[in-house]
Amino acid sequence: MNTTAPPAPVAAAADYRQMFGLLPTGVTAITGLTDEGKPMGFVVGTFQSLSLEPALVTFCVDKSSSTWPTLRNLGRFTANILSTGQLPVCRSLARKGEDKFTGIDYSESPIGTPRIDGATAWIDCQVVSEVVAGDHYMIVGSVSSMEAGAGEALVFRGGKFGEFTLWPTPDPTQKAETK
Ligand SMILES: Cc1cc2nc3c(=O)[nH]c(=O)nc-3n(C[C@H](O)[C@H](O)[C@H](O)COP(=O)(O)O)c2cc1C
Repeated sequence: MNTTAPPAPVAAAADYRQMFGLLPTGVTAITGLTDEGKPMGFVVGTFQSLSLEPALVTFCVDKSSSTWPTLRNLGRFTANILSTGQLPVCRSLARKGEDKFTGIDYSESPIGTPRIDGATAWIDCQVVSEVVAGDHYMIVGSVSSMEAGAGEALVFRGGKFGEFTLWPTPDPTQKAETK
């Protein structure tokens, strides 16, 4: 592999955003605790499974995040996969500022991190590594515990929120059976 290839031309930020806006993502709240035990969190669209054996997950966080340094210090987090009924939770945790958790109900995970009530799933993780990648950090977490909640996952695409619609069965791309 040629490792000395020149980098691809830099995309304009608007084009880059528009292009990746075509790809739907889930909406996940990364939550943890302050040194004083107060819940805190932020929203990512970049949470993904990474490895099965061992069970690893990943997400990317902007270097300007005010929450991540505290969670990094804590060394653990819960990834709360938000459900279609949790747009207010998403909006609250996706803003900047103190007390983003006001009005958000949660319970404690087996590793002591906040699990937001009403999420589709909770994945409790230990931070195992962090890679600097441009203006973001790529975080890798190892899964300590997890549990399915209820409801359907909230979906984000092109700056809008929605839900996933299953195709009717049979698969419409398959030809109808001939008699
Ligand atoms: C749907 C959605 C997806 C987002 N994805 C990411 C992401 O993957 N990484 C990131 O750093 N910020 C992402 N954000 C923005 C953060 O949630 C936002 O900047 C947040 O205010 C950061 O809070 P903090 O500074 O308290 O950490 C996303 C926001 C929304 C609404």
